[in-house]
Amino acid sequence: MSVPGFLEARRSIRAFTGEVVDRATLDGLVEAACIAPAPHHSRPWRFVVIDTDTAKADLATGMGEQWRADLTADGVSPARVDELVDASHRKLMDAPALVLACLTWDGLDRYPDAARQRAEWGMALLSLGAAVENLMVAAAAAGLASCWVAAPIFCPEAARDALELPEEWLPHALVLVGHPDPEYVGRPRPPIPLDQLREFR
Ligand SMILES: Cc1cc2nc3c(=O)[nH]c(=O)nc-3n(C[C@H](O)[C@H](O)[C@H](O)COP(=O)(O)O)c2cc1C
Repeated sequence: MSVPGFLEARRSIRAFTGEVVDRATLDGLVEAACIAPAPHHSRPWRFVVIDTDTAKADLATGMGEQWRADLTADGVSPARVDELVDASHRKLMDAPALVLACLTWDGLDRYPDAARQRAEWGMALLSLGAAVENLMVAAAAAGLASCWVAAPIFCPEAARDALELPEEWLPHALVLVGHPDPEYVGRPRPPIPLDQLREFR
């Protein structure tokens, strides 16, 4: 058996045409995300679809301020900090739509001890990854480009507050969505060294 074509078709595409993605299509992508497996038949996710310049700028600025502070504390030069934060801001502004995937405790179990509580949150986080993959596979099937952006997991509170989201919604992943720039050439997919990555027992 080889990898199914619909999975091969999803690639991280980081350049888009200016064409708008209509909201019905964006809703379809969120619905695809919402059929992902999740613990206890829960849906511990909330998706914020951002397709206005104002909201994109709010998010990019809020996360950018946090990143600027982190990079400065790391000792990165002010010029380099400006370069990195500006590039990240542009990346978000240039995407026709952004989907911000948040985690909540809705439907999750509560435990008296920190270890099981952490495991429960970890399960929810795994399911969020599955939901985001569903969304990107559905985007590829619709002829759309997408790319997962890690930023919110490093600054969930800043991302949440930038969009004035409810306190219990914690952003963990961001997906850029748009129509693919036909000029964009992705990196070749490296071969899969199965012997290093899996073992039978
Ligand atoms: C959790 C996660 C975070 C990622 N963050 C970024 C990111 O911040 N910027 C980016 O350009 N790509 C990001 N990616 C995309 C990966 O670079 C990409 O999936 C990987 O290089 C494999 O390429 P492919 O998606 O085209 O198969 C991220 C992917 C994952 C799963």
